[in-house]
Amino acid sequence: MKIAIIIGSIRQGRQSQKIAHYLQHNLTGQGHHIDLVDLAATPLPMLEERVGKHPQLPAVVQDLSNRLHAADAVIMVTPEYHGSFSGVLKNALDYFYSEFSRKVVGIVTVSAGKLGGINAATQLQHVILSLGAFPLPTKLLVPEVYGAFNEAQELTSDITTRSAQRFIDEFQWLATAITEKKQQAVTGI
Ligand SMILES: Cc1cc2nc3c(=O)[nH]c(=O)nc-3n(C[C@H](O)[C@H](O)[C@H](O)COP(=O)(O)O)c2cc1C
Repeated sequence: MKIAIIIGSIRQGRQSQKIAHYLQHNLTGQGHHIDLVDLAATPLPMLEERVGKHPQLPAVVQDLSNRLHAADAVIMVTPEYHGSFSGVLKNALDYFYSEFSRKVVGIVTVSAGKLGGINAATQLQHVILSLGAFPLPTKLLVPEVYGAFNEAQELTSDITTRSAQRFIDEFQWLATAITEKKQQAVTGI
């Protein structure tokens, strides 16, 4: 599958990219093609109008639209900021709709505290439904993110390691099922 992983943190000294790279490494090892959408490397202007309605859509937005259309499934990684997911991720998502339609979206949140960004995860799930996408019921929460990885970029907590494996298994199961269903609809087989 082609999987887009969106890093929804551009903060100086950010931590969210670590779990994104962990998932990229793991899923690449399982034969998937990963497109890492780093919003720090792809800064989008604040939304003035969405794709399809903007009279002069910025090229960076069109490019990201193309990348998201090409993805079979998506993983969104976000920090918890003030009880929700990041503003930079919301601004990015507001540009799009058809790019996510009928796609499985895995939710990954990080926080400095022990709860792993549960509020961000719950709120992001609602937004994913509004995008016409299928939020994966199994979320991956990364608590105490500043100590969550060792120098080899391995997770230091057994509990989080097991959570990550379950998330990866469930994500692949549902995303593969939906992707195959769409391919059957195209080929008629
Ligand atoms: C503006 C801001 C608000 C935050 N609000 C919360 C919060 O509501 N709950 C929480 O658990 N952590 C909160 N934190 C801590 C972040 O979850 C933590 O810094 C984490 O590393 C953020 O991800 P990042 O490093 O990718 O930015 C906040 C951090 C920032 C910068």
